[in-house]
Amino acid sequence: MTNVAVVGATGAVGRTMVSILEERGFPISELRLMASHRSAGTVVSTGWGDVEVEDLAGANPDDIDIALFSAGGNRSKEHAGRFVEAGATVVDNSSAFRMDPEVPLVVAQVNDRAAGSHDGIIANPNCTTMTLMMAAGPLHEAAGLRWMVATSYQAVSGSGQQGVEELLAQNHDLGADPDLLMSGGWVEPDSRVYPRPIGYNALPFAGNEVEAGYTDEEMKLVNESRKILDLPELAVEPTCVRVPVLVGHGIAATLRFERDLSADEAMTVLNSAPGLALWKDRVPTPLDSAGIDDVLAGRVRETVGEPGGINLWVVGDNLRKGAALNAVQIAELLV
Ligand SMILES: NC(=O)c1ccc[n+]([C@@H]2O[C@H](COP(=O)([O-])OP(=O)(O)OC[C@H]3O[C@@H](n4cnc5c(N)ncnc54)[C@H](OP(=O)(O)O)[C@@H]3O)[C@@H](O)[C@H]2O)c1
Repeated sequence: MTNVAVVGATGAVGRTMVSILEERGFPISELRLMASHRSAGTVVSTGWGDVEVEDLAGANPDDIDIALFSAGGNRSKEHAGRFVEAGATVVDNSSAFRMDPEVPLVVAQVNDRAAGSHDGIIANPNCTTMTLMMAAGPLHEAAGLRWMVATSYQAVSGSGQQGVEELLAQNHDLGADPDLLMSGGWVEPDSRVYPRPIGYNALPFAGNEVEAGYTDEEMKLVNESRKILDLPELAVEPTCVRVPVLVGHGIAATLRFERDLSADEAMTVLNSAPGLALWKDRVPTPLDSAGIDDVLAGRVRETVGEPGGINLWVVGDNLRKGAALNAVQIAELLV
């Protein structure tokens, strides 16, 4: 049995972690929940009884075997080290350590082997990259990936609870007058999480600009894909778009390989890929992906412009496989 801490337990991902640990019957002897001083003292009902939320700043990490961190990069940088020193293995959901060469970046069921060697921290990839890797990983195994164009359609829960609240508020306010939305004259709503309105809209800019016009979300797709697939030269052309969807990140991707791949062969590979469900007769959408563990794939087609490659669509619950489920799957590899 294992002592487990969920850090960021009151957030969108942390709450999903607690329910997934319960659903999967994770062998826990003691569950500890940590968050900021704002939630310290609140009591959460869990499968292991009522648990009082501790303030991370003062929490004693002694006796914790596995700590699932999901409280933002700064908290990971500040606290993961002391948890590791006290003997815990940290599975970190933030971007703090993902590109550290000493830290494995693991998509469970794609590169599990990487979890076998670590110095106390294992990183969980970004939710968009994770979803795409569930299809790109097995296809790479089959034909050798060398080039990929990926355009994401990312849900607002990827920005945490605040993203959800901003979409719901803007849908309410902007939706009050559909005529204005269709003919112009709508009033710019209050936006705190996103730079432009997300209600009734699509924002071709997810994250913050970091280099040459690309956002950090886009560069995560480039750098994390290369690390997970162990392909430092992989060519990736990313565009990340935020869409007015609550849960479920979708990615439309064009993939080219060392050799030509037919749609039939790609579908055969995807059909037997673990953690992935290939939908042939129905188009998988974010709504279909919400609340389930499998990443959904569909619309597998051969490229038309330059034959030999594959176009496809994947969509997955960003709070589950994109974050909490993968972290719990890594914890399962550890025990
Ligand atoms: N949402 C996704 O799809 C997704 C996917 C992959 C990775 N992630 C990563 O997971 C992390 C959490 O995301 P989220 O969506 O769950 O965010 P969220 O809903 O905003 O939750 C943030 C959590 O962090 C805690 N926290 C904030 N400041 C803290 C502090 N100073 N000390 C201790 N705890 C603190 C919050 O506690 P209080 O309630 O007390 O404020 C809350 O539990 C982020 O690093 C994010 O990048 C998110």
